[in-house]
Amino acid sequence: MEKKYYLTTPIYYPSDNLHIGHTYTTVAADTIKRYKQLQGYDVLFVTGTDEHGQKIQEKAKEVGVKPKEYVDKIVKDIKELWKTLDISYDTFIRTTDEYHEKAIQNIFKKLYEKGDIYKSMYEGLYCTPCESFWTESQLVDGKCPDCGREVHKTKEEAYFFKLSKYTDDLIKLFEEHPEFLQPDSRRNEMMNNFLKAGLDDLCVSRTTFDWGVKVPFDDEHVVYVWLDALLCYITALGYGSDNDDRFKEYWPANVHLVGKEIVRFHTIIWPAVLMALDIELPEKVFGHGWILFEDDKMSKSKGNVIYPEPLIELYGVDAFKYFLLKEFSFGQDGSFAKEKFLTRLNSDLANDLGNLLSRTVAMVEKYCDGVVPEPMETGEYDDELIKLAGEVPQKYEDYMEKFNFSNALEEVWKLIRRTNKYVDETTPWILGKEGNTKRLNTVLYNLCESLRIVSILIKPFMKNTSTEMVRQLGLSEESASWEKATKWGVTVAGQKVVKGEALFPRLDIKKELVRLNEANEKLIKERSKNKKAKEKEESKEEEFITIDDFDKIKLKVAEVVSVEDHPNADKLLVLKLKLGDEIRQVVSGIKKYYNREELLGKKVVVVTNLKPIKLRGVESHGMVLAASCDGKLTLVSTLEDIASGAQIS
Ligand code: MSP
Repeated sequence: MEKKYYLTTPIYYPSDNLHIGHTYTTVAADTIKRYKQLQGYDVLFVTGTDEHGQKIQEKAKEVGVKPKEYVDKIVKDIKELWKTLDISYDTFIRTTDEYHEKAIQNIFKKLYEKGDIYKSMYEGLYCTPCESFWTESQLVDGKCPDCGREVHKTKEEAYFFKLSKYTDDLIKLFEEHPEFLQPDSRRNEMMNNFLKAGLDDLCVSRTTFDWGVKVPFDDEHVVYVWLDALLCYITALGYGSDNDDRFKEYWPANVHLVGKEIVRFHTIIWPAVLMALDIELPEKVFGHGWILFEDDKMSKSKGNVIYPEPLIELYGVDAFKYFLLKEFSFGQDGSFAKEKFLTRLNSDLANDLGNLLSRTVAMVEKYCDGVVPEPMETGEYDDELIKLAGEVPQKYEDYMEKFNFSNALEEVWKLIRRTNKYVDETTPWILGKEGNTKRLNTVLYNLCESLRIVSILIKPFMKNTSTEMVRQLGLSEESASWEKATKWGVTVAGQKVVKGEALFPRLDIKKELVRLNEANEKLIKERSKNKKAKEKEESKEEEFITIDDFDKIKLKVAEVVSVEDHPNADKLLVLKLKLGDEIRQVVSGIKKYYNREELLGKKVVVVTNLKPIKLRGVESHGMVLAASCDGKLTLVSTLEDIASGAQIS
């Protein structure tokens, strides 16, 4: 039976236009999937979007659309980006998917019935952008410790998850299974900053907004977004539905890949929820570092966002993926710089790899009519190359198992660089000139063989480049399989090489910097132009209100029964209005236009459900309507006389 491997990325917040930092988790996950597949695993890779919560509800309101409509558009863009990046996910789960929402309700009910969720009162501090609750002592300078933004006080009835009950089990998990959270530094952080201090129960429902999964037995409450989101990792497999076959097949996850800022949710809340549900824990959570821009966090407001699209359009998806995983150490933060990107493309991809392939293929064509020759005469340097080629796959595998992509690639590049050196040492062009065919044949064979191994090892990172190498070297699928990476002598003499384009053209860095900057700027401008156009469009739509909007305004006919001057304002009158049996006081700025006599006994129209306010110290409960034009003002009334208190609709 095929071995199973289940891996996830976080489910993304639907935010406009993801930057290169956002793509980091997903590019890494894609690489792991392809690597495990190469090894013969049946891999399931789940990603998706985290669409509920106050933040989304507010954003949708800002642009005047329903939350679902708002997220639909962004989710489409995110999927498009994953397509551009050739991300090989299997399941894309959205928290708004009906099957997920149903499963969440089932799970919430289950935990409630078990007593691990209970109702109480929440009083505390909440950070809306992070959808996180904090205690006073956790704040940094009075602000959210995660994002540095303002928190606000909330007090509401809420459901709580008994997180505190699992403190000891979590400490035990961290102590007995250090591999559960990697890298090690993150584990220490969780232990020292959270677990050792003891855990409070977690508020898992909200009533201040309604864009979320309703608590099934109390629909004033929606489920806390982080609970809703984390559970995706199992609902995506059918857990909590009628068909949980995939859950039985793939769970527990082999790895949840997450950015460092969400490690807390994944290694404290998530395992505790799984414990409460009596579900086996995932094997590992890996908290990777951030990609910064010149050591600063990337953000639109700082204007330092780098989008992936221009990099991919100009240099290809393989170069982009290679750079992300080679340049930065996965567990730590790294700083992106365009110049670094271009320099690495030149040195590693164009010079080291591209050049090695093109000169190997060119020499096989020139000296052997394009046919890979039979090795005939061994010589100096062969053993060293063959020995290294034999060691590299194992080292590569060790690093890959630890998600140390940069070192895994470095191993491959050691082989590439050694092979280039082998060319310089054996000087095949001199062997050719001298007619030393026997030695030349061995050298060329060894070059092809080394490149064959390279083509296998880079496949998880750079699928297209690997395919092109296999094509140019004339390799069969079988000889480029994982099992054959550790073997020397697999290339079959007689196979035909095919000359092709350079894998990566050499770049003029100065020129490319200009081109890249222009492309990024153009995209930023385009996106902000689109946004402005959209906003303009939407503000036009805002001129219309629906009948439901109109219904919110309560209008009545009222008779003016008393008129007095405002004690503290020259322009205001204090009116007493009769609305049926009710008398109410309204302050109005009409003194310039009407005197007491003109007003007494008149029927006017008043907005009755306006929030009462004090105008210069006098309470006003409503507003009389008036029409004004060119300095003229007249109060609004009805055409025919009608009783005071009559509704206007
Ligand atoms: N919705 C939550 C996850 C819920 S999972 C149950 C979330 N979404 S996110 O859109 O903000 O982040 C998605 C991923 O992008 C996270 O792994 C996050 O760390 C990653 N990154 C976002 N910006 C990043 C960088 N600048 N650098 C590296 N990764 C970063 O969190």
